[in-house]
Amino acid sequence: MSDDATDRRSRIAVEVNGRTRHADVDAGATLLHTIRDEFDLTGAKPVCEVGTCGACTVLLDDVAVYSCLVLGAECEGRRVDTVEGLADGSELSPLQTSFAQCDALQCGYCTPGQLMSLEGLRRNNPDPSDDEIESAVQGNLCRCGAYRHILEAAHRAFGDER
Ligand code: FES
Ligand code: FES
Repeated sequence: MSDDATDRRSRIAVEVNGRTRHADVDAGATLLHTIRDEFDLTGAKPVCEVGTCGACTVLLDDVAVYSCLVLGAECEGRRVDTVEGLADGSELSPLQTSFAQCDALQCGYCTPGQLMSLEGLRRNNPDPSDDEIESAVQGNLCRCGAYRHILEAAHRAFGDER
């Protein structure tokens, strides 16, 4: 590796799903590729990679972000949560349970992003209005058109917590 290439890499420590992980990342590597390629967490999906579909959504310090628009190097010392961290062992989170109960997925490709957008809402606003629930997932496209079931699942999950 040339000195130039070495200079463009940085060592980061990130708390991922509650556990500190380290990686050497290229200056241009996105968070999406850092979590997939360095941490082997493949729930967040690379689809558009330009911030239009939401398939790559994760939480950064409890806020839902498109991980294709964040650099891995920016996440030094921060907390990242991915869909892999939602369940507690074999016990699904309330959101995941509602998605299963409401048939809120078809191909499932958008599901990790939908779940993480809603998890971000739950952490910041545990008692959201209907509009707030809808707006939490408005940046998550579903090519299968499962929107009605996704919203049903979201309302059920938040309703259970009220
Ligand atoms: S892959 Fe990030 S928004 Fe589409
Ligand atoms: S379930 Fe297929 S893209 Fe949403």
